[in-house]
Amino acid sequence: MSKRFLVCPPTHYAVTYDINPWMTRNVGYSAPDAQRQWDRFIETLGCAGAVEFVRLEANEHVPDLVFTANAALICGNLAIVSSFRHPERRREQGIFRAALTRAGLATTFLQQTYFEGAGDAMFDRVRPLCYVGYGWRSERNATLQLQEIVGCRVLPLLLVDERFFHLDKALCALSSGHVMAYMDAFSPHAQALLRRAIEPEYLIEIDLEDALAMAPNAVEIDDAVVMHSASRRLRERLHDAGYRVFCTELDEFIRAGGSAKCLTLQLDDGPIANLAAVSA
Ligand code: ARG
Repeated sequence: MSKRFLVCPPTHYAVTYDINPWMTRNVGYSAPDAQRQWDRFIETLGCAGAVEFVRLEANEHVPDLVFTANAALICGNLAIVSSFRHPERRREQGIFRAALTRAGLATTFLQQTYFEGAGDAMFDRVRPLCYVGYGWRSERNATLQLQEIVGCRVLPLLLVDERFFHLDKALCALSSGHVMAYMDAFSPHAQALLRRAIEPEYLIEIDLEDALAMAPNAVEIDDAVVMHSASRRLRERLHDAGYRVFCTELDEFIRAGGSAKCLTLQLDDGPIANLAAVSA
């Protein structure tokens, strides 16, 4: 079955404000190569395996709309739409909600908390677990609310290094059961939770260099993983896990703090949600 992704072309993408340490260094940057890199990225996803795209139209007032991973967490046919921490991104919520409704999903929001969707929440592909990062963007309260909705155990993980302000910059759970992780992005307690949940032979620990190249921010399609770059050591580790590795330049997007995974939202994801726990 092909995977369906929500994507948004970078027609109006640029680094126009500063809400994370990557952007701080780049405010005012117009990202002249963004369209070319994005087109290549989409093409690479298509070459990697069976994919379909739902395209969202770009909007000049919301340059970060390209990062569709932050639209929502998809849980069966329910989209738990993001409640962004920063006003600059809060303007995207209505646009994402409308797009997800058009894509055939029911939508809801968490109550009185910040939550940044698939950027901070990710289902394990083999263990009945949902990893949820909090601290910089999403809040701990969001993890408690998610526990009531998603049909599996939520593992709340405190993120402590602001360069890795979303979970999907530090963790990637693959269908083989392997999990790529940059452990120093997590608090000691969160590291202990991860080590307890993931058997050592399945934990692929990423070093700082790969983490800064946003290697965990990867998209899995069939037996391929698509990312910006990976060290030889990481490539070999992924090959041993049974994966083909596709690297495609995405540094224009890394300047705003996002890479491959951030540019996609998988629309068929997660277990069936508990609708009784959802407010309309
Ligand atoms: N500039 C965006 C922000 O700061 C980057 C988002 C990256 N997205 C992600 N899912 N990790 O919000």
